[in-house]
Amino acid sequence: MSTNEVTFLIFGATGDLAHRKLFPAIYCLFCDGRLDEDFGVIGIARRDKQTEDFHKDVRESIEHYSRYKIEDEDAWQRFISRFYYYGLDVSNQAGYSGLKDMTGQLEQQLGLAGNRLFYLAMAPNYFGVVAQNVRSSGLKESSGWTRLIIEKPFGHDLPSANELNEQIHNAFAEDETYRIDHYLGKEMVQNIEVIRFANAMFEPLWNNRHIDNIQITLSEVVGVEERAGYYESAGALRDMVQNHIMQMIMMVAMEPPSRFETEAIRDEKVKVLRSMRRYSPDEIKQYVVRGQYGPGELQGKSMPGYREEPGVNPESTTETFVAAKLFVDNFRWAGVPFYVRTGKRLPTKTTEIVLELKGLPQSSYLNMEGKMGPNLIVIRIQPVEGMYLNLNAKKHGAGGGVEPITFEYCNNCDQESTMEAYERLFIDCIKGDPTFFTRWDEVMEAWEIADPIEQLWQQEKPAFPNYAAGTWGPQAADELLSKGGHHWWPVYGQKMLEGVQASQPESREQQVATSV
Ligand code: BG6
Repeated sequence: MSTNEVTFLIFGATGDLAHRKLFPAIYCLFCDGRLDEDFGVIGIARRDKQTEDFHKDVRESIEHYSRYKIEDEDAWQRFISRFYYYGLDVSNQAGYSGLKDMTGQLEQQLGLAGNRLFYLAMAPNYFGVVAQNVRSSGLKESSGWTRLIIEKPFGHDLPSANELNEQIHNAFAEDETYRIDHYLGKEMVQNIEVIRFANAMFEPLWNNRHIDNIQITLSEVVGVEERAGYYESAGALRDMVQNHIMQMIMMVAMEPPSRFETEAIRDEKVKVLRSMRRYSPDEIKQYVVRGQYGPGELQGKSMPGYREEPGVNPESTTETFVAAKLFVDNFRWAGVPFYVRTGKRLPTKTTEIVLELKGLPQSSYLNMEGKMGPNLIVIRIQPVEGMYLNLNAKKHGAGGGVEPITFEYCNNCDQESTMEAYERLFIDCIKGDPTFFTRWDEVMEAWEIADPIEQLWQQEKPAFPNYAAGTWGPQAADELLSKGGHHWWPVYGQKMLEGVQASQPESREQQVATSV
């Protein structure tokens, strides 16, 4: 039996996620030969739809969002002929027996082994009921494996996450439950452990004796798009910090695992969250900044404020920006601030991690002509994938002096495109490797950190909007660093936008600056 044989059962098949990410990911895996031709897809959603119409939707999604375009019609026919559609009101238990029959017939017809991957690409309030109905209908009983992928957000606080977890565990065991955080599927997020643990030159420096502060920026140009309904009740803290930012902190700060095996890695990751300082209300006021964008100009276009976006309450207090100064109070990181920020309608789309090294003792070089900068280790997650080091060197030519120089490595500059996070995570799930999925205790710890912040914010009315679209967030986000003698390092694309001479090739800079 081939390990890649699978039937995808995608709940929420007419939704945005399936359209933008899931169908393109399945197509790219097919084109790359990473998925056997032995696969089937059942798209499940409430409305009735003919198979031909579903095929048209899938084609449109791939034409718009896939890394690979449709060039070979024969291959396309082989691909799309494996897609079926089933109309289902997911809370109606009776409808599941038809789905069960359809799945069984499809597997028989396509000669599949009965491996079933249930993907819940829908509103989280349905997760529990779908898991329950899948089980009680017997859809989970098959001759192969059954696994469940759930999208974030996993609950909206710790109690709701707990409740959801119990509902899911009534139907799927923990080792069958794959909680997705698509940042863990990104090439450079996965690369962090290799950069750290496969390079003798970094390991001795990776601690509080040498690192002065760490900065994680996750900036977005997009606003709330068509997701106001979800975003209004989530906000940036729940949407980005509780999951994606926490995952990146774990990857940067974790200890080397006892073995490079799933549970050993996850054990080390979760210890980072356990060591993260829990803030009192006073500390939250001091160390956590929230913001919401007002109207402004972004990349030459005028943008409405968040409160003017369709579907948003005109008096909304939902935050679209968060910056925080966090501490991991363990032996390795005590005293090192982890500055994090994320926001919508910021000047450029970039995810970057900067490790700023401590300065050297007073040296005669400091008095030399020129400017000596601190050493930086910068990991670029997206859109440019790679890393660079900021060092100091003698100024070129006679006379000397010192100037900062950059050593740069680009992971995706010479390639048309790299695998998308969802492609990687699909393959991991099909192979039964949950390393880059979120374990339950990680979710729990992350809510424990986020909940007190959210609770305090609920009690106090913020003075929103407090930053204009197209800027780097509220002033308080800069003050958070300046109070500690630090400043945000410019992220990729920013130098060019601000008209400063960049050290990177022009074409890449332009590409980044305009990418959303
Ligand atoms: C999602 C958030 O998890 O991540 C979105 O819900 C956000 O609000 C998105 O836009 C960002 O992902 P990426 O891969 O585009 O950086």
